[in-house]
Order: sequence, then C-alpha cells, then structure tokens
Amino acid sequence: MPFLDWFLYHSVAMWLLLHSFVLMAFCFHSATTFPKGCYPSTEDGFKTFRCSRAQLTVIPKDIPNDTNKLYLDYNQISFLPNDAFQNLPLLVELDLSHNVISRVEVGAFRGLSEHLHSLDLSSNKLVSVNKDVFNSLKAKANLSSNPWLCDCTLQQLIERVELVAGTSDGIVCDASARKEHIGKPFLQLVGDIDFCNIYKKTTDIAMLVTMFGWFAMVISYLIYYVRQNQEDARRHLEYLKSLPTPASPLFLSSKHQKPC
Ligand SMILES: *[C@@H]1O[C@H](CO)[C@@H](O)[C@H](O)[C@H]1NC(C)=O
Ligand SMILES: *[C@@H]1O[C@H](CO)[C@@H](O)[C@H](O)[C@H]1NC(C)=O
Repeated sequence: MPFLDWFLYHSVAMWLLLHSFVLMAFCFHSATTFPKGCYPSTEDGFKTFRCSRAQLTVIPKDIPNDTNKLYLDYNQISFLPNDAFQNLPLLVELDLSHNVISRVEVGAFRGLSEHLHSLDLSSNKLVSVNKDVFNSLKAKANLSSNPWLCDCTLQQLIERVELVAGTSDGIVCDASARKEHIGKPFLQLVGDIDFCNIYKKTTDIAMLVTMFGWFAMVISYLIYYVRQNQEDARRHLEYLKSLPTPASPLFLSSKHQKPC
C-alpha cells in the first residue's frame, strides 16, 4: 500500500507542521499582545501585571482587563492622560512610582473604582495636581518625593486624599510663595498656616496696622491738645497774676485775646 504509506507519512508531517505553526502563531501573538518588558502572573491569587523597568514612556495599551495589581514603576512615563486606566475595573493596586510624571489630567484615574486601595505616585516630578483628580477614588496614596509647590492647590489635594501611613513627612515643599517653607514637610506647615487664606490674613493684618495707626494719631493729637491747653492756661494764669488788681472785666477780656 504505497499510497496509504505516502498519505500517512505526509499527513503526520502536515500535522506536525500545522502544530508548530499554531504554536509559533500563539507565541507571536502573546509577544505582541503584551507590551515589551511586561509580563502577567498570579501572585497570592491576584492577577498581576508587571512592567517595572521596561523603559516605557507612556501607559501601555492592552493591559489585561482583569488585572488586580499593575506595576509601572521605574519607567519614563511623564504624563497621565484622561482615562489612562479606564478598562481596568478590578484594579486594587497601582504602582506608578519612580517615573517622571509631571502632568496628570483631571480624568486620569476615571474608571478605577473604589476597589483601588493603593496608589503609588511617589518619586515623580509632580509639582501641582488638581484635587479633582482623586474624585471617586478611595485609594491610599503615596505622594512622597515629588517637587511639590506648597500652595492652596496642594492643601486642597491633601484634604481630599488619604495618605499611606507614614508618608506624610515625604511631602516636602520644593517651591512656595514664602522662602522659609522650602525644604519643610507640607503637613507640618498646614498646622499653622491656611494656604488658601493667606491673602485674607495679610489684608486682616493691613487693616489692623491701619487702625492702630489712626488710633495712635488720635491719641497723640489728644495729648498734644491737652498739653497745649495746659500751657495756655498756665500762661493765661501768669498773665492774670501780673495784672494790677482790681481789673475791669472788659479790660481783662480784651487783653485775654492776645496770647491766643
Ligand atoms: C474584559 O473584556 C472582555 C472582552 O471584551 C469582557 O467580556 C469581560 O467582561 C471584561 N472583563 C472585565 C472584568 O471587565
Ligand atoms: C512611599 O514612597 C517613598 C518614595 O518612593 C518610599 O521610600 C516609601 O517606602 C513609600 N512608602 C510606602 C509606605 O509605600
């Protein structure tokens, strides 16, 4: 049966070829699906996606939508656009630390639900972030090691965000309207200063100084007036004493005009 032999031989060869082709396609497929340097795993029952130190400059696309933990730390990401994590509704942990993020759009974390309990934005280039960025988020955040501008915007952000325990001293002023704040932990300053009411405070002080100024002027005028009158009265008395007695009232009143 040469034909059957030939057929069997070739079908096995074909099958092997097909098989390897499918395998190759599968490997190729997974290689293109996951961004370079990223790999998925399951850690403690959490679907984890790691892209640490992958030289990424943007948030990668095609992150599996059932990811629970996403590590994007130690990359070169500089910007978080609106809806950057929109199709990751099961995310509980997001690590964006050690990047160069300087700009975060207001809707960047839109779509992340209250499932998210940890958000690491530490060691980035954040200067100012709108508090509304954290709307609808309940995550604890690490905002340490960023070049923060200490102002009303940061105060409102801190009021809005729950910080990871022990990280508050890591929020240090890199810039501030007042030089003496630079290098100080923001939360130590917020105890004494209301950054959103500095203007009101200075106007209050200006009002106080002005009022005190007026008050001082009135008092000194009064003192001057009393002294002057005392002097006049004394002179007047001396003048009266020097007059020959008895003096007629008419003479007295006409003379009286003179020192005044
Ligand atoms: C992920 O995407 C698939 C296909 O688009 C969808 O069927 C599934 O419900 C999504 N899973 C989640 C958790 O959103
Ligand atoms: C917060 O971020 C800083 C700077 O990256 C890091 O040293 C620290 O360990 C982080 N803290 C926590 C509790 O994750």
